[in-house]
Amino acid sequence: MKKIKIGVLGGYRGTSMINYCKRADNAEVVAICDKAPEALEAQRQNAQGLDITYYDNFEDFIHHDMDAVVLANYANEHAPFAIRAMKEGKHVFSEVLPVQTMKEAVELIETIEQTGMVYAYGENYCYMPATYEMKKLYEQNKIGELEYAECEYIHNCEPIWHSITYGERDHWRNNLYSTFYCTHSLGPIIHSTGLRPVSVTGFEGTKVQRDRNGGAKSGAFGIEMVTLENGAIVKSIHGGLYRNSIWYTAYGSKGRMECAREDANAGHVSRIYVNADPGEGHYGHGTLETYEPKHGMEDRAEGFGHGGSDFYSMYHFVERLRGNESADTIDIYEALDMFLPGMFAYRSILDGGIPKAIPNLRDKAEREKWRNDTACTDPKVAGDQLLPTCSLGTPDIPEATYERMKEKWDAECQKEEGNYRAMAFKQGSKASK
Ligand SMILES: NC(=O)c1ccc[n+]([C@@H]2O[C@H](COP(=O)([O-])OP(=O)(O)OC[C@H]3O[C@@H](n4cnc5c(N)ncnc54)[C@H](O)[C@@H]3O)[C@@H](O)[C@H]2O)c1
Repeated sequence: MKKIKIGVLGGYRGTSMINYCKRADNAEVVAICDKAPEALEAQRQNAQGLDITYYDNFEDFIHHDMDAVVLANYANEHAPFAIRAMKEGKHVFSEVLPVQTMKEAVELIETIEQTGMVYAYGENYCYMPATYEMKKLYEQNKIGELEYAECEYIHNCEPIWHSITYGERDHWRNNLYSTFYCTHSLGPIIHSTGLRPVSVTGFEGTKVQRDRNGGAKSGAFGIEMVTLENGAIVKSIHGGLYRNSIWYTAYGSKGRMECAREDANAGHVSRIYVNADPGEGHYGHGTLETYEPKHGMEDRAEGFGHGGSDFYSMYHFVERLRGNESADTIDIYEALDMFLPGMFAYRSILDGGIPKAIPNLRDKAEREKWRNDTACTDPKVAGDQLLPTCSLGTPDIPEATYERMKEKWDAECQKEEGNYRAMAFKQGSKASK
């Protein structure tokens, strides 16, 4: 079998994709790039015996002979690297999130259209056992037409904040806004139903002490109340409430499907409940079914993170490159359907909670309005359109907070147990955010 040659940018989360290639029969990793010497060294250990070239800078890396690149670099910097890679003739698998400004969104779409390269958005939560089953069931019309859905990605990162921000004041995790990291929650609903979001109202948690303790400048959590093109409403919540939760429910015109709540101790996202009638107007004629759905490649996905979804998102990307028509990848239009509700929810929050229309960049005329829109919370990119990181204003966090985080991180680096980076190399990423 011809193996797709893959290069990976980013040596933390990128470990998951490197490990995919190590085990796969359809892909091989040929180059790894990270500017952090310790990340490269750890990857050398991880990939002993393999023929891999290591780079400490993207400009040299991108000229390596390879078919595709995985972008597992900073979450707010994917678009410029995706654009550079496609202009060099490389296909792209992008980690979350796809872009950080509307300007980047327009440029990225146009680059994909012009180059014809494959772009796959790595929203792995769409490939978890229950969420993937929800897609299959929706396509089979099991619950009828979507009327309402809820989705949650709650991750209390306070205990690991030092090991995912390293005491860097301007790490993207410290500078993001509350509704930025929205695709782990919204993504599976969009991917299951194929419905486009048309408007959004945003809310954010303003009890922020736990966030400020570690140096994060955003609201505590974000909520998007999204209206889809058919009139269905979705409530999406994500961020740092105290107890973790990954949960999805969807109500249709003849039933409901949802995964198990974590505290039910019933299999979590590996278990689904389907309570649907045979047809609309046949209330109560259905039966409640509950089971642990299977993808069919469990042996190959064994040990991969996020319920095995880390395996499937890469598998489908590689199969797409090998010409497999049934490969299920997430293209840029769908990626933006997952992300723009978060971007525009924040504009709604900053505007006192009024609804915002969500642009449809499939429409070329619509792109003109956004071509120069650089509004975001990243000072390097926003120019004179810089947004505050929180509706309360950008907080002034004392330097001592970051020094404390750095000390904790340095101490953790001395021991392997409990070290995010060490665990990431073993498991292909521990943190989800
Ligand atoms: N899908 C998931 O479940 C999941 C889980 C964890 C992280 N992520 C995503 O993975 C990405 C990376 O997150 P992370 O946890 O690895 O932490 P991170 O963002 O701190 O690490 C990024 C790595 O990329 C390297 N890097 C950044 N810019 C570079 C450049 N220009 N040249 C060379 N190296 C560069 C850094 O040195 C660092 O090692 C983010 O986009 C994040 O959203 C996704």
